[in-house]
Amino acid sequence: MKLPVSIYPDPVLRLRAEPIGEFGPEMQQLVTDMVETMYEDDGVGLAAPQVGKGLRLITVDPTGPKERKGLMVLVNPEIMEREGEVESEEGCLSVPDFKCAIRRSHRIRVRALDRDGAPVEFEALDYQAVIIQHEVDHLNGVLILDHASRLKRGIYDKKVRKLQRQREKGES
Ligand code: NI
Repeated sequence: MKLPVSIYPDPVLRLRAEPIGEFGPEMQQLVTDMVETMYEDDGVGLAAPQVGKGLRLITVDPTGPKERKGLMVLVNPEIMEREGEVESEEGCLSVPDFKCAIRRSHRIRVRALDRDGAPVEFEALDYQAVIIQHEVDHLNGVLILDHASRLKRGIYDKKVRKLQRQREKGES
């Protein structure tokens, strides 16, 4: 089932997510729903806080919803090593109509658990590495807005507040 995606400034996006220790049916359903949500919303990555769950769980597929050939489900992911630098133009399903250039590590070493709780460790490069860093940011309550310039962020915040006011007026 596709899940609703939390949109900035929803406070759930700012929480530090909790590690997962249970891999039962509830968690499996969450993984399945997150993968579906990621693909249906045309994303290449999704973190559990984006669907309102404060858990350290991310889904990643650099090949995108058309190919669906690079799916990874990472539980309690940790970035162990970083090397090099790459600049990426990033957007986020939780921050609509916003894009910004972010400097990320070019190569990372990741340690995590898979959806069944088995340990995995691997190296990621380029686009895959960028997506993992973006999603791990989500688990720590960090959004692409935090990487943007103050000016750019200020403009976006203003736009968000204006939309909120319009919505409140419409509802009252
Ligand atoms: Ni995001």
